Amino acid sequence: MTDFDGKTVLITGGGSGIGLATAKRLLAEGANVVLVGRSAERLDAAAKELDAGERVLTVAADVSRTADLDGVIAQVRARFGSLYGVFANAGVGLNARTADVTEEGFDEVVAINFKGTFFTVQKALSVLEDGGSVVLNASWLVHRGMGAGSVYAATKAAVLNLPRTLAPDLAERGIRVNAVTPGHIHTEMFDMVAPVEPVKEYFRSQVPVGAFGKPGDIADAVAFLLSSRAAYITGQELVVDGGLSGSVPA
Ligand SMILES: NC(=O)c1ccc[n+]([C@@H]2O[C@H](COP(=O)([O-])OP(=O)(O)OC[C@H]3O[C@@H](n4cnc5c(N)ncnc54)[C@H](OP(=O)(O)O)[C@@H]3O)[C@@H](O)[C@H]2O)c1
Repeated sequence: MTDFDGKTVLITGGGSGIGLATAKRLLAEGANVVLVGRSAERLDAAAKELDAGERVLTVAADVSRTADLDGVIAQVRARFGSLYGVFANAGVGLNARTADVTEEGFDEVVAINFKGTFFTVQKALSVLEDGGSVVLNASWLVHRGMGAGSVYAATKAAVLNLPRTLAPDLAERGIRVNAVTPGHIHTEMFDMVAPVEPVKEYFRSQVPVGAFGKPGDIADAVAFLLSSRAAYITGQELVVDGGLSGSVPA
């Protein structure tokens, strides 16, 4: 018997990186998982890799579209009836100096990272069980500025602000809301920001522990925040960054 036996957790951006690692972790602890992403092919590959049969539901949807989220919730209700947890993790980067940010790029990142996170939680409320748990995915960039990160960092600052208001808002139903704040985690998104070894080395040199995090490092933190071991934690941020945002390397 584990904390997640028979419980269902919705993971947006569940087809790759941090979301997929979290799905693996929760499945190992007995959960059912619902994976959401735009690419059906990516989700199919993830479900194949997870190899957990009916315990995995994949739904191709864009979190920036509320109609898509309604469709996700309808499928959750039909397959599992309700949700115990939500990991609102889907996000995209925008690595551009301020002068190079386009209106289209701005709107896309805000729509996916902030609007998508907000409405993922709002739409899930109709199936979320009392006593459930929500985790949002922020970023170290909220705490440490980087010249090419203005819009992305601002969307993550908005995400990080949400637990403070959603926690008291949902407390009467016993629903906890927290955020996880990753540092440099080696995923597809990170490879887009740091595509070549000299750039990677620069980023690595900023991390006091001297290494990038693995998706599983974030999955462990998310599993903790979702679990009953975090029953008295709500409205908080858990930073998982090898020391990146709080200190400089020795
Ligand atoms: N890696 C890092 O260093 C790092 C650091 C701080 C924070 N984060 C955050 O961690 C989260 C996960 O990123 P990752 O590093 O695991 O990168 P990743 O592998 O690129 O994962 C991002 C996932 O989000 C999905 N996604 C993107 N836009 C979507 C949309 N509109 N609707 C539904 N799904 C969407 C993508 O799938 P589709 O493209 O198929 O939709 C993909 O599976 C992001 O929010 C990111 O900002 C990452």
